[in-house]
This record gives sequence, structure tokens and C-alpha cells, in this order.
Amino acid sequence: MKKIVILTGAGISAESGIQTFRGSGGLWEGHDVMEVASPEGWHKNPELVLNFYNLRRKAAAKAEPNAAHLALVELEAHYQTQVITQNVDDLHERAGSSSIMHLHGMLRNVRSSADPSLIYNYGDREIQMGDTCELGSQLRPDVVWFGEAVPMIEPAVALSREADIFIVIGTSMAVYPAASLIHYVPADAPKFLVDPNRPDIGPINNLQIIQKPATTGVRELVDQLIQQANA
Ligand code: OAD
Repeated sequence: MKKIVILTGAGISAESGIQTFRGSGGLWEGHDVMEVASPEGWHKNPELVLNFYNLRRKAAAKAEPNAAHLALVELEAHYQTQVITQNVDDLHERAGSSSIMHLHGMLRNVRSSADPSLIYNYGDREIQMGDTCELGSQLRPDVVWFGEAVPMIEPAVALSREADIFIVIGTSMAVYPAASLIHYVPADAPKFLVDPNRPDIGPINNLQIIQKPATTGVRELVDQLIQQANA
């Protein structure tokens, strides 16, 4: 089976009702991203950061996977399929994808602010000030903030290098290192990008752009790829 690697961003969850990051005047649900998604913001006002992520956690728990998340699962019968997502929601999991790498962490997990290896599944429970890890340190969301390292980037690069087909869905390709993954894909591998707006990614060999929302664009692409696999 050929290998398909799929990089997703906030745009794939937009039609499930989860707001994208750069869609509303640079604000994320009314906040400057540095206030709520950076180590500096956390040190300055941890209550604000916890409340912000508690609201995101609730919103994600209420959202349902959409036709794009669901269509990607159909590829698994025809291709070895790996999702690499920048999203912190669990909509790919709930749609039924079996191999998902979260580059920027997950809303449902919390971690120790002293030891990043102490990670706990909190589900959709709220994190409060005073909730601590077994070492007694305050718990924080297990998400990658601006200015923090992306621990999963090396395995993501390795997967991208091996891709026979690479698909990018709903990401502005503005945040590195995630945006660099497409440059590791073999030059002759077909690449597809589904997004109603064309992200500014410069020239990429063998790239086809499907300028549509995820629910319709991914459906079309999946049908095309399944037809190819059966040909
Ligand atoms: P952005 O908000 O930067 O980009 C969202 C992309 O989705 C844009 O290119 C939109 O055109 C596109 N889009 C909007 N509606 C869509 C739809 N219905 N179907 C398909 N695409 C649609 O979000 P990301 O690129 O995911 O990182 O942002 C990358 C990272 O920046 C996030 O993971 C987050 C953020 O800071 C961290 O939290 C570390």
C-alpha cells in the first residue's frame, strides 16, 4: 500500500464550529495569542490561561467531527494513512482515524509545569489553580505554546520523508516547524492542499491546490485518491 501523510490545521475543524487562529483580526477568541498561548502569558496570568483552555476544552468536547475528518478515514482501506495534526482537539480520533500524531499537544491532556514527562488525561474536566502533579507543581495544559519546542517534530519529519502522497488541509502554513514538513516530502510525490484561501508557501514541486472548504474539498480529493488506488 502507498503511504499517505496528511497535515491538518485549524481549518479542518472550522466547519465543526471551532474557531481558527488567524481568522479574526489576529485575535484568538478575543485574546492576543501571546497572552494565552506562551510561557510569558502563563507566568503573567496563569488563571487567565487556565480559564481560556477550560473554555476551549468545553467547546471541543461539544464539537463533532465533520465530513472532512470522516472522509479521511476512508483512505485507510486503500492506503497506509498517517495524520499529523497541529490541532489540539480530538476530532480526528472521534472520526475514527487510527494513526494520529499531535504536533502541538492535546486539550484533553494536562501536564506538570515542573516535569513535562508527567502527563495526565483530564478528559473535559477543568484544570484549576491548585491542581498539582505528584511532585506538587501546578498542572498546565499539555499544549505547545509559542516559543516552546515541538517534541514530535523529528518523527513528523521522518514520516514526511517517507510519504508517497502528502496532503495539507486547513493550515495557514504560518507556524514553524510544522509548516516546513512539506519540504521533506520527496520532490516527485504528489502533494495536495485543501484550503479556501491559498496559503503563501512559495513554489512546491507537484502541488495541486483545491481551493475549497475542507468538507467539500477533502471529499473530492478522497474520492479521486480511492479511484486511483482501485485503477
Ligand atoms: P490558522 O488559523 O493559522 O489557519 C487556518 C487555515 O484554515 C487558513 O489557511 C484558512 O484559510 C483555513 N480555513 C478556514 N476555514 C476553512 C475550511 N472551512 N476548510 C479548510 N480550511 C479552512 O491555523 P493553523 O495553521 O492550524 O499552534 O495554525 C497553526 C498553529 O498556530 C496552531 O496549531 C496553533 C497556532 O498558534 C499552537 O497553539 C502552538
